Amino acid sequence: MKEFSTESKITVQTEGNSAYDILLRDSFADLPSALRELGCGSRRICIVTDSNVSARYLSEIKALLAESCSSLEVFEFEAGEQNKTLETVQQLYETLILGGFDRKDCLLALGGGVVGDLTGYAAATYLRGIRFVQVPTTLLAQIDSSIGGKTGVDFLQYKNMVGAFHQPALVYINVSVLSTLPSRQFANGMGELLKYGISLDADFYEWTLEHMEEIEERKNIVLSAMVTRCCQLKKEIVQRDPNEKGERALLNFGHTIGHAIEKLKNFTLLHGECVSLGIVAAAYISWQRGMIKDDEFYEIRDMNVGFGLPISFDGLSSPDVISATKKDKKMDAGKIRFILLKKLGQAYIETDVTDREMLDAVNYLNAGA
Ligand code: GLY
Repeated sequence: MKEFSTESKITVQTEGNSAYDILLRDSFADLPSALRELGCGSRRICIVTDSNVSARYLSEIKALLAESCSSLEVFEFEAGEQNKTLETVQQLYETLILGGFDRKDCLLALGGGVVGDLTGYAAATYLRGIRFVQVPTTLLAQIDSSIGGKTGVDFLQYKNMVGAFHQPALVYINVSVLSTLPSRQFANGMGELLKYGISLDADFYEWTLEHMEEIEERKNIVLSAMVTRCCQLKKEIVQRDPNEKGERALLNFGHTIGHAIEKLKNFTLLHGECVSLGIVAAAYISWQRGMIKDDEFYEIRDMNVGFGLPISFDGLSSPDVISATKKDKKMDAGKIRFILLKKLGQAYIETDVTDREMLDAVNYLNAGA
């Protein structure tokens, strides 16, 4: 079996020959020097965080940065997807204006995907764009949302409906924070993580299966290798297709139906939980089309169980899920851009998935069907 190991720095090239680093560390200790290297030491920094993360890490980060940054501001909002809105962004703009932030100053997103996406969107739009640094504290944000410059907020319950591509100046990942992540949050990240192996890298999929126990025990060395591999896979794709004109859509594996369930469940299920359901649905259609074998399909489904993720949902009608799927933004001239599997570890974009196929897949997941 192929082994995967940790890297301490991964550089992502962006359009126009600029680049940013993803630093993989076991603590926050190197954050001040990394910010100084970016030239943020003499600038204003606004730490953006939510109520959950602030209770855990804000004082540590503030104390570290106080030594190396001339001016520090904090913007904190109530944790939860329901606050990933334009209203929260407006409040952040206000803090920045009152604090006298100019175009050379910097935002620092300390938290999970909600914090990172919202901060990135504020950074993309405040004064037509200022720098921002991602300090992701959840597994989901470390392996996915902090990398690649997708920023945005939800609008009228539609996820990430308003947004912009705006690349971070740095992604600083402290893998050790994963050891204290609540189990549901950890599983949430695993839901997003499973897509990498299943859709892009069969060796990594096999490795993840093989290391299930150590991952669940949160062995730091294993988690570091796992996070590193996801960052490498994501880097390769976002370098080739930064604005999702083509292959970046493969990273939406599991999201087509997943987003619809997430919306209809009013965000009571977490994003990664819904993605993991969407992965089973996409694998189901691929299996029915004869592209993956019986045992491969059942293994994908059962991996969810192993990682504390759902394999069914209830309380929704399957036709409602299909119509919400059709309203999602993953549409191309009225057709759903579905990500299916050509084989394990190799996904492709399919635009001819029928309503019948989707309904069968959703019925398979729907405990009430
Ligand atoms: N989370 C999918 C992407 O960044 O494209």
